[in-house]
Amino acid sequence: MTGTIWFLLLGLIIAADFGSAEVPAIFIFGDSTADVGTNNYLEGCKAGADNRFYGIDYPHSKPTGRFSNGFNTIDLVLRQLGDFEESPPAFLYLVQNMSCFKSNILHGVNFASGGSGICRETGSRPFTNVVPLGKQIEQFATVRGNMTELLGEAKTESLLANSLYIISVGSNDLLEYVRYDFKNKSSPSLLSNLTFAYHNHLQNLYNLGAGKFGIVSAPPIDRVLPAVRVYTGVKFSLGNAYVIATDIIGNPLSHGFKNVKEACCGTGAFNGEDKCTPKSKLCQKRKDFFFWSWNHPTQNVSYLAANKLVYGEADEYVTPINFNQLASILRSMFPLTTPSLPSQNPQKNPKK
Ligand SMILES: *[C@@H]1O[C@H](CO)[C@@H](O)[C@H](O)[C@H]1NC(C)=O
Ligand SMILES: *[C@@H]1O[C@H](CO)[C@@H](O)[C@H](O)[C@H]1NC(C)=O
Ligand SMILES: *[C@@H]1O[C@H](CO)[C@@H](O)[C@H](O)[C@H]1NC(C)=O
Ligand SMILES: *[C@@H]1O[C@H](CO)[C@@H](O)[C@H](O)[C@H]1NC(C)=O
Ligand SMILES: *[C@@H]1O[C@H](CO)[C@@H](O)[C@H](O)[C@H]1NC(C)=O
Repeated sequence: MTGTIWFLLLGLIIAADFGSAEVPAIFIFGDSTADVGTNNYLEGCKAGADNRFYGIDYPHSKPTGRFSNGFNTIDLVLRQLGDFEESPPAFLYLVQNMSCFKSNILHGVNFASGGSGICRETGSRPFTNVVPLGKQIEQFATVRGNMTELLGEAKTESLLANSLYIISVGSNDLLEYVRYDFKNKSSPSLLSNLTFAYHNHLQNLYNLGAGKFGIVSAPPIDRVLPAVRVYTGVKFSLGNAYVIATDIIGNPLSHGFKNVKEACCGTGAFNGEDKCTPKSKLCQKRKDFFFWSWNHPTQNVSYLAANKLVYGEADEYVTPINFNQLASILRSMFPLTTPSLPSQNPQKNPKK
């Protein structure tokens, strides 16, 4: 009996705390730009970032599986939106740890896996084992089922319809094609295959109840968006990662970077011949560097990129609205209170 009252009280307090001013939950899909530890749990995965010196600027200098010296771009997007301090935890982490699974999934989950892509095969050749986007969406379907058990169908639908879905993926498909299959410069079938596959993924997410997408992508994958526009109720913000990166690399000093050629942590030519390891050469001033490791930006670059995604002028870096405008729509739509369960083990991640 006491237990029930405590349950209700706690539910009310948490609900009141959420109020109307926050995005209820955030679900994240994609690659190393968004991964917060998924790959730590994959057997045989060769795309990992859970060793020193990754995370050297993360709280307690802890390697978490983020492909950065600190927070990654999506963490910093969420920080700047103000609803969360960093990304929600990785799905595979939560699955390992049932004690926090139920209370955490209501705030969102991160499914992103470094090295993965839009195509199912992307990542398997260089890294053996990653979680492709399609599989990430299957995992989301599982979480949806778990939520429905907790909250019932109507509340789950309402929560998911009013949550933000961030997808940051595509560059590995292009990179891998260049690395392994590049024979024909025009490669129209690659582009149409990617567009087709990406559209299917979005359709599947939509069918599962998603409607508000923040998409980080590079051309030509943005070609899929005319198709997205026809879904009812869908709102999206498309950030152009390519323009953001070339903008900074083209004018490094005005953005505060002195070195856009070498990696801060690595080995060999340009310090960029291999991933960052405890034996790597580490640069002195990390904030001067564009590249943290051979293929990933430093936290400071991610901070700038996140800033452009969140507050960027429409049609410069983001189309047709920026991430903050997208989040504002969600915050204003429903005085929705996130249904909550009592949690003995609240994660530090959601800002509460
Ligand atoms: C979530 O759903 C899956 C698939 O139905 C199930 O195997 C799993 O045990 C559920 N997890 C929890 C914590 O209920
Ligand atoms: C490249 O692709 C185009 C269009 O599919 C095709 O017409 C052309 O023959 C291809 N070139 C080579 C060298 O394969
Ligand atoms: C595109 O898809 C078709 C059919 O699945 C496949 O045969 C072709 O190799 C794909 N093209 C590329 C560049 O991946
Ligand atoms: C820039 O990087 C330094 C560490 O190299 C860090 O202390 C600082 O907080 C970063 N600034 C931003 C805005 O991320
Ligand atoms: C499970 O989660 C709890 C609370 O968040 C934490 O203290 C514990 O270390 C986690 N266990 C594992 C195996 O990660």
